[in-house]
Amino acid sequence: MSEPRERPTVLRITEVGEEILRRACRTATEEDFGSERLARLIDDMFTTMHVADGCGLAANQVDVDLRLFVYDCPDDDGVRHTGHVLNPVVEEQDPGRALIEETEGCLSVPGANTRLARPARTVVRGVNQHGEPIVIDGTGYFARCLQHETDHLNGGLYIDRLSARDRKRMMKQTADRREKVFAERAARAAKVVGAE
Ligand code: NI
Repeated sequence: MSEPRERPTVLRITEVGEEILRRACRTATEEDFGSERLARLIDDMFTTMHVADGCGLAANQVDVDLRLFVYDCPDDDGVRHTGHVLNPVVEEQDPGRALIEETEGCLSVPGANTRLARPARTVVRGVNQHGEPIVIDGTGYFARCLQHETDHLNGGLYIDRLSARDRKRMMKQTADRREKVFAERAARAAKVVGAE
């Protein structure tokens, strides 16, 4: 078996404007499943997400071209959902589905957030790190997270779903606040990675 893990690694989070956030990620294959490298990436993505105080993180947000995201997100019943999925596909939504509007932001658009309507329930099908099929059924904020992270892997960002005016407002917010957000992340990272 493998050695005990080294200290957790906090990965750099890519930011709006970087090309990797704008293209569809590579589908995970047998080469990836069960590998130590994938297990390590998932661990590091969890560490990175927690340091950034996020509830979801896609692989292209840590500069890795792979259809993978991790999540640690509450639903509207206060139930915490933690896990990962590879090759996620959002199940087709009924056109008459219920929408809910809540505040949404993105670690790759640091410091910006806005209200956005999304379906109230989402079912995602994919596989786990061993290539075994999984189904994730989310409601409330967790449903939002599943949609948001799957969008990332298709090269999308939540700001694409906004009007031109709101998108401009988000870009202004992130320009104004990103340095403060980076300082907060650095302070939390120092605690997680720890002193010698
Ligand atoms: Ni995001």
